[in-house]
Amino acid sequence: MRLVQISDIHCGPQFQKSKFDKAVEEINSIKPDVLIVTGDLTENGIISEYEDARRNLDRFECEIKVYCSGNHDYKSTGYLLFKRFFESKRVIEFDDLVIVTISTARPDRDEGEIGHRQLVWLQRTLSKYKSKKKIVAMHHHVIPVPDTGTDIITVLDAGDALRTLVYSDVDLVLSGHRHRPWIWRFEGLLAVHAGTLSSERTRGFFANSYNIIQIDDKIKPSLKVVGGESIDFEDLRRKAFEESIKLED
Ligand SMILES: [Fe+2]
Ligand SMILES: [Fe+2]
Repeated sequence: MRLVQISDIHCGPQFQKSKFDKAVEEINSIKPDVLIVTGDLTENGIISEYEDARRNLDRFECEIKVYCSGNHDYKSTGYLLFKRFFESKRVIEFDDLVIVTISTARPDRDEGEIGHRQLVWLQRTLSKYKSKKKIVAMHHHVIPVPDTGTDIITVLDAGDALRTLVYSDVDLVLSGHRHRPWIWRFEGLLAVHAGTLSSERTRGFFANSYNIIQIDDKIKPSLKVVGGESIDFEDLRRKAFEESIKLED
């Protein structure tokens, strides 16, 4: 099975149509089984941006599309519009896999939160799928990523979230938000973060990108630059680390 994760489309002033067009061409040629969109589909959560986002995302020829909301989508009471334009099933079952989406965005706030009730729901939901691989998708992070400054990028209840994910034997958590592709492995949990597909605002990694996730016996994520190379996440991490420890003259 092949998943493609795209994130942070940001329809609005920062949207780069040429990048998005290229990504549509590339991803349609890959023919993913599932397309997961991890939030910030719009820049300001306003209706014209939602209309653009719907039109744009409809261009992906993938039968199963999964949408998470991002903090930008919830600006300007956009949470009401998100439901109208992108309501999707929160639990998607396959023979040996389940994908669950979590809403971390809150109206007119940049920081994210899962909340106790949603965490209890997540734990109860995942407990029904003990024998399947488990993927949880959300906009904000549960583990910070480097090169992104000091902003709060994890959910406010990241400790509680990690405990639920680890004790529920989640295999993979997918996030977007910080426009910085990265992976971490934590207590058996693989945390994969997507860059931005089509926004001008890249961070730490200065290209638009998306993730291709091959799921067989193992889960193998790789990074694809829009219109460019495929990159092994381990290479990306090593290069970024070497760059970060160079002393300035
Ligand atoms: Fe974003
Ligand atoms: Fe965001």
